[in-house]
Order: sequence, then C-alpha cells, then structure tokens
Amino acid sequence: MPPEDNAFDGLARYYDTIMEFVNYDRWQGVCEGLETLLPPHPVHVDFACGTGVLVEKMRRRGFRTVGFDLSRGMAALGRNRRNGLPLCCADMRAVPFGPTTDFVTCLFDSLNFLLDEASVRAAVAEMARVLKPGGLLLFDVVTETMILEHFVGPEWEENNGKFRLRWKTEYDRREQVAYTRLRVNTGQAYEFRERVYPNSVIDAAIADAGLHLLGQYDAERWRAVTPKTARIDYLAVKPPADAAAIRYPEVEADIRRRIAALPDAGD
Ligand SMILES: C[S@@+](CC[C@H](N)C(=O)[O-])C[C@H]1O[C@@H](n2cnc3c(N)ncnc32)[C@H](O)[C@@H]1O
Repeated sequence: MPPEDNAFDGLARYYDTIMEFVNYDRWQGVCEGLETLLPPHPVHVDFACGTGVLVEKMRRRGFRTVGFDLSRGMAALGRNRRNGLPLCCADMRAVPFGPTTDFVTCLFDSLNFLLDEASVRAAVAEMARVLKPGGLLLFDVVTETMILEHFVGPEWEENNGKFRLRWKTEYDRREQVAYTRLRVNTGQAYEFRERVYPNSVIDAAIADAGLHLLGQYDAERWRAVTPKTARIDYLAVKPPADAAAIRYPEVEADIRRRIAALPDAGD
C-alpha cells in the first residue's frame, strides 16, 4: 500500500526534540502495569514506533520489544540514535510478523494518521493477528476535543532552544480531518493529516478483529471517557480472555495509582 504521507521522513531529525515535552512515562507506566498479565520478558511489538522511544524504554525493562514504522526516516533515525534498536519499516495495515507476540502497542495518535475506516479496521486486524491467544493490545486515539481545544487556532511559534517551529492546524469538521502545517525555521515545512474516529468505529474494529475489550479510558488519569476526553486508551485481549479478565480489576487499579504518582500526569 502506498504511504499516505511521508512528512515524518523529513521531520525525523527534529522529532525527539519536538516530543521532549511528551509524557512517555505515562505509557511506560501503563505497559509496566500490564506486566503481571503477560509472561516474563514478553515479546512486544510497538506498531508505528516513530523513533523508538517506547521501544527503548520497554527493552530496558526486560520486554523483548521491537518496533516498526511506515516512515523509513523515523525508523532509521531511531536505530542510529538508539544504539541499533530493532526498528524496521512496515505498514501497520500489512505487518510482516506472524502470531508470536504477547503484547502490541500503537500509541501517540498513530492510528489517527490512517485516513479511512477501512485502514483502521485493517490495522486493528493486524494487531490482533500478530498476537498469541491471551495476548494484550494497547492503543490510543485522539478525539475531536483534542483537535479543537489543543490543535486548532492561530499559527503559533515554539522555540525549544535548538530550533524554532511554527504550527498551524485547521480542522475540516465534515471530514473530521485535521491538517497541521509545521515549519522549521530552517525553511522546511511538513504537512500532516489526522482523522478523528467515533468510538463506534474503534469498537467495531476491535470486535471485528475478534478481540475482547477490557477497557477504554481517558488517557490522562485512566478514568471513564467523558466529552472532555482528549485522548482515549483502548485495552483489549485476544481470546481466551478469562485469565486476563479475572485479574484485570487489580491491574486497572494499579495502573491508576502509577499514573497518579507521575510528576506530570497530563500530555
Ligand atoms: C505521532 S507519531 C507517533 C510515533 C510513536 N508511536 C511515538 O510515540 O513517538 C505517528 C507515527 O505513525 C506512523 N505511521 C503513520 N501511518 C502509518 C502506517 N500506516 N503504518 C505504520 N506507521 C505509520 C508515522 O510514520 C509516525 O511515526
């Protein structure tokens, strides 16, 4: 399948600096909270891994984590910068792995970069396919609240001390697509499109993939989703689901405690 957008190839060398404010510790906390439902040293695939920040963190923890990304530039930069981390280039709608995985993640809006429902269904089906029975899937999506309250607005400039960036996002409410233009002061401009999906589309993709939904959460505190929720975390298990479901309430409470204990529980 052709890439929908290669802007990440160009952005790769700036990406880690731009993302320095992002709370990867929260995702790490959720992954570590799920550890008790996984075998020791779980085989973990991070879909759309970007430059491999989460891959590196989870490998340090003892997970057998690999990652892939559609952008060759993002995966290559992650490998070079992060000591040969096992990152490769692949499309999450057609993944070159067999069903050997205990744990799959796909985080930081990566699913929103798929611009049609068929692609979302295909990606979630691939996440399910590569899991072993009893394996866990954790992914997130941003909501229209995120786009309208945190993305859309007049152009604004950010200076991180290394380079300056100008951001501008416009939102097509009918198509539910956000268009973000990012210009680095060196002159390059990159354009990204993200689509917002209603819960019903994601729920159907999970059910059609044969997964059992354990929970969906406002990502900030791992509490119930409300109209103010900007990012939703979904957690699902590939049947048989019984073992995970029985122990899950304790795990959920533990994850909430971990998130509450983080210095900055926001995005
Ligand atoms: C906002 S970044 C998040 C990257 C990473 N998960 C992180 O937390 O830093 C979104 C990523 O999705 C990737 N992506 C978009 N479409 C994809 C696809 N069809 N298959 C795999 N990766 C894709 C992009 O290349 C980009 O690296």
